[in-house]
Amino acid sequence: MAEVVITSKEEAARLTADLFERLVREKPNAVFGVATGSTPEGVYRELAARRAQHLLADFSRVRAFALDEYVGLPVEHPESYHSVIERQWTRPLGLHPEQVAVPPAVITADDNPESYETRIDAAGGIDIQLVGIGSNGHIGFNEPGSSLASRTRLKTLSRQTRIDNARFFGTLDEVPRYCVTQGLGTILEARRIVLLAFGVSKARALANALEGPVTSSVPASVVQFHPHVTALVDDAAASLLANQDYYREAWQERPPSRRILFDGITLTAPPRRRGF
Ligand code: F6R
Repeated sequence: MAEVVITSKEEAARLTADLFERLVREKPNAVFGVATGSTPEGVYRELAARRAQHLLADFSRVRAFALDEYVGLPVEHPESYHSVIERQWTRPLGLHPEQVAVPPAVITADDNPESYETRIDAAGGIDIQLVGIGSNGHIGFNEPGSSLASRTRLKTLSRQTRIDNARFFGTLDEVPRYCVTQGLGTILEARRIVLLAFGVSKARALANALEGPVTSSVPASVVQFHPHVTALVDDAAASLLANQDYYREAWQERPPSRRILFDGITLTAPPRRRGF
C-alpha cells in the first residue's frame, strides 16, 4: 500500500523538494527519474528557487533519466521532453546536459529503445522516480493495456492522452502519435516512487490506481507491487479515495521519527531486482 499524503499542491512540491535534497545529502551522485507534464512543475520550480537563493544542497553530481519522450517531434521543439527537461530541470539546476538523459525522439528499425535501460543500469539504477498520472491511469506513457512487466519501448499514445496533452500544442493534430516510454517493469525497479496527482481530473484514475485491483487496464495500479511508494495528492485528486480519512489521520498522527517526509528512513538501498 502506498503512503498517501493529502496536502496542498504547494506543500507537496516543498515536501518532494525536501526529499530530493535529503537524498542528495545522503548520496551526492543520486539518480533521479524525472517526469514531465504539468504535475511536477511545482517541484522543479521549488528546487530552482532554492538554488537561486543559494539554499539548495549541492546537486552538481546528480544524474537524471526522463520517463518518456514523444517520437516524431524534433528535439528542438519547445514541447519535446528533451526541451522541457532542459528548461525545467537541467538548466535551473546548473547541470551539464550529459548528466541528464531523455529517451530518443527518433527510432529507426535498427534502434532498440531498451538500450536506454543499459544507461540507467550503468548509473546504478534510479533512486527516486517521480511520476504523474494520466486521466486514463497511465504512468510514463504506459497506456491502458500495457504489460505490467513492460520495458522501455515504442508506444502509440491513446486518443485520451493526446486530447489531454493538446493544451501544450496548438491543435490535437499537432500532438505526436508515438512515444518512447520506460515500461512499468522499468519503473518498478526504482528504489522509491513518488507519485504526484493534483486536480479533480485525476481523482478517478488515482482511486483506481491506489485502491482498485492491480490491472493493466489501470497501468498506475502496478505501483501497488512496489514497497516504497509515496503519493502526494491534493484534496481534489483525493476526493474519490475510499480511505482518505485514514490517510489524513495517518499523516497527522505519523510517528515522531517521520515528522519530515521519509525522515528516519534510509533513502539509499541496494538496487531492486528486475521484475517483481
Ligand atoms: C510525463 C508522463 C505522463 C504524465 C501524465 C500527467 O512524463 O510520463 O505520465 O505524468 O500524463 O500529465 P500532467 O502532469 O500534464 O497532467
